[in-house]
Formats: sequence, C-alpha cells, structure tokens
Amino acid sequence: MCIRNLIIILLFSACVFSIQGQDKLDDYLNSDFHKDRRQLLRDIMPNNSVAVFFSNPVRNRANDVDYLYHQDPNFYYLTGHKEPHSVLLIFKELQLLDGKKYNEIIFVRQHDALKELYNGTRLGKEGAEDQLKIQMAFEGPDFTNYNINFSKFEKVLFYQFIGDVRQTSEEADLYDLIDQFKTKVNYQNDLSLDLEPKPNNIDLTTLDKLMDRMRGIKTDEEIVLLRKAINISTMGQVEVMKAIKPGMSETEIQGLHEYIFKKYQAEYEGYPSIVGAGHNGCVLHYIDNYKPKIEDGELILMDLGAEYHGYTADVTRTIPVNGKFTPEQKAIYDLVYQAQEAAMQICKAGTTFSDLYEATAKVVNQGLVELGIYKSTNKKDMINPETGRNRYYPHGCCHHIGLDVHDKGTYTELEENMVITIEPGIYIPHDSPTDPKWWDIPVRIEDDYLIKDDGCELLSDLAPRSSDEIEKLMKEPSVFDQVMLPNIDKE
Ligand code: GLY
Ligand code: MN
Ligand code: MN
Repeated sequence: MCIRNLIIILLFSACVFSIQGQDKLDDYLNSDFHKDRRQLLRDIMPNNSVAVFFSNPVRNRANDVDYLYHQDPNFYYLTGHKEPHSVLLIFKELQLLDGKKYNEIIFVRQHDALKELYNGTRLGKEGAEDQLKIQMAFEGPDFTNYNINFSKFEKVLFYQFIGDVRQTSEEADLYDLIDQFKTKVNYQNDLSLDLEPKPNNIDLTTLDKLMDRMRGIKTDEEIVLLRKAINISTMGQVEVMKAIKPGMSETEIQGLHEYIFKKYQAEYEGYPSIVGAGHNGCVLHYIDNYKPKIEDGELILMDLGAEYHGYTADVTRTIPVNGKFTPEQKAIYDLVYQAQEAAMQICKAGTTFSDLYEATAKVVNQGLVELGIYKSTNKKDMINPETGRNRYYPHGCCHHIGLDVHDKGTYTELEENMVITIEPGIYIPHDSPTDPKWWDIPVRIEDDYLIKDDGCELLSDLAPRSSDEIEKLMKEPSVFDQVMLPNIDKE
C-alpha cells in the first residue's frame, strides 16, 4: 500500500511540476467530445424535434456576493461551456438561417469590458465558434430576434423551469432568455410542475430520459477524469488516516481532505463534504463539520469527493479517531464491510440496482440480528415507524457518479462502462432502542466501481477498506505531523 501510494504521489508531483508556466491544465474534455455528445443526442431525439438547454442560474449568497458558479451538467456535457446566461438549441433535422444550414445554435454572453475587468474574459460569439466549435453562435441579445417558428416542430424538448432565476441588470441574462423562449414556444406560465403531457408540442419529460441514457454510460475520456477524481479523493482519505488525532476538529479534518484535493488541482468538492464524529456521523448528510474537538474513542465518518474537470468522486471512509476500533465499532464496521463485499461479488453488467441493494441489506439485517441489535428480520422489527425506513440502514446503496454526484443514468440493469457507488451503512444514534454500548456508532463504507461485462473494477482502492488495513495505515507517520501554527488568541 505504502509504496504504491508513494508512486502515485510522485506521479502527481511530476504532473504538477511539468505544467508550470501554463494557465490551465490540458486534460479537459475537448470540443470533439462535446460535439460527439450533441450528435448522439440528435441521433436519439424524435423526428422533427428540437432540444433546448439553458445554463445554470447564478445564485446569490448575500448582498453583492454570489455563490461560486457551477454550470448545469447537461449543458456542460453538450458544450464544454462554463459560463452563465446561455442557451443551446439542438435540432434533429437541418435548419436554415440566412442561407446557412445548421443543426445547432448557441447564444452566449456578450463581451463587456467593465465586467471582464472584474471577473475575467468571456468567451463571446467568436470563442463559442472557435473553442466550443458549435456550428452557429450568437450573443444573448440576438436571441430576441432569432426568428424560428417553434410551432413547426412535432416536439420541443426541454426541462421544466424551476423558479430560482434572478432578473439582473445585465441585458439578455438567463431571466430574459427564458422569458423570450417562453414567448416563442407559447409556454403557459401556469403549466403545473407535474410532468403530465401538455396540450401543444411542448415536451417536458423525454429529454431527461434521453440524457439518462447518454450520461449513464461513460466514454473513455470521462472514465479518465473519473479515475483522477477518485484517486485524488482516496489520497485525501489515506493522508487523513495518518494525520488524524483525538482533539482535532471536524473542520480541520475537512480542511486536510480539501487541501489535498487542491494540491492535486481538483477545482472543487463535488458536493458539500461530510465529516461527522460520533453521533454527528449518524446524520446521513451532515455538513456542519464544526465539532471543535473530536473525542478519543469516537468514530469519524468522512464522505468527500474531489471534482476534477467537472467529474466527481464519492468516497466514504469511517475510522477510529485514536487508530483502534473498539470491539463494538469493529463488529459494526466489519458487518458493513461484508455487506459491501457481498454487493461487489455480484456487481457486473446485467445485475440490477435492486439486486445490489438486496445483497447489502441481507448481510446488514442478518448481522444486526446476530449481534442482538434487531430482534428479527421481520419488517416490524427493522422499520422505524417515524421515517418508514430500515432503522439502522435507512438509505439506498448505489448510484451513478459523473458530472453530478448522484449522476444521471438509468437505474435498472447495470451496463458496461457505468460508474457507480456501493455504499452500505449502519448508523446507531444515541437513545436507539438497543443496548447503549452500540449508541453513536456510525459506519458507511463507500467506493466507486467501473462496471464491466464480467465483473466490476474497484476504482477507489488506494484507500484501505478493511478494519485491519485501516488500523495498520493509521500507525504510519503523517506529513501533517510537522504542521504547527502559532496561537492567535490574545491572552
Ligand atoms: N455523498 C453523498 C452520497 O454518498 O450519496
Ligand atoms: Mn454516494
Ligand atoms: Mn458519499
């Protein structure tokens, strides 16, 4: 394990060293990838249809500060464009505009010298043509006069609008683009949010199914980026296993993981990091991460994913803060481990998502009966009537990962080149109806897998999974042992 980790570190360092002098890495998806995706969508769209995609809204944090912008994953998948206030139209058949034939068109933000002074350059029409290589590109204000008769299409495919788009002072912002589009397609604002068929050619359901089909199966280029995101995330887990000590804070542990993400050039976290010690780990999506002192004897559940060039990992490790599982912690941990192993045994093309869940649930439920935590595997003894869920294993076990952490994809049978998680867990909160010796034990083990015809490849194997391997690694010295900062509290 150690030598392997060292080699990985050296490879990453060599990579970081070799890119000095560049503004950007050169391993992004290229315009051909996005062009191929647009063509694939066109191939599976119904005859005489157009698909319309809007960029994500800019979301306000407070006053004049916005949240870090993140592109809508469908929009990114089809264009590679990372800026807001844009709209993309993909046509099944060729269209004609000013004597030119085209089957795709994008409207992007116009240049603005003052805004670019503050926020950096915009791609503009030329950039959209030259870099994104989309056949026709215009600036947002041109969308008003874009003369196209949407009523001629049998289907106008788009996603239902969600009302979180702000009107800004910028001309042709997303609010305006949506507003103009609604007029062009005769969209009734009172269309309910339900997904019933609509009276005209507007279709709010088909596009999502088409995107599920496409995005659920990863291309070779996407798998390269996912491997990178996963390696980075597992390196975070490895380094924290060596560095963690009782008395550290949840915040500091989160910081160590995220420092490692950035060290390896991951742009973001793919979702808010979950770092929960003791009973905090029993909150499935605990993101406060603010416990100031993690106590000796506690378990800490760490569910984090680096996002690398848009693609996110999703990896969870649960470790004893002092380096040694108690007998109760080990019993629960090993049960979750066996549940994950059981799913791994059957994980291959043709297996269903529900087969995977059943394989994990069988091990967990029977194991909890053997430990005396459940009376029996009868539903009445396992279901928490307040939540309607299995009391100690209350969530599903598997989902696609990709541009979204809970990625788009079909959720029936596994197919080759899907990338999914297997993440069984057992969470026994304080005051649970069982012996108090089990209270405040949260365990989730989450790994990422590439589906193959005859099995699956465990992609997140750089970080140990078994209780013995974790205890062994936690004995090793850490690079962070030397990090000491001065006290900044005034006496
Ligand atoms: N990190 C959220 C999940 O595991 O699904
Ligand atoms: Mn997950
Ligand atoms: Mn997770």
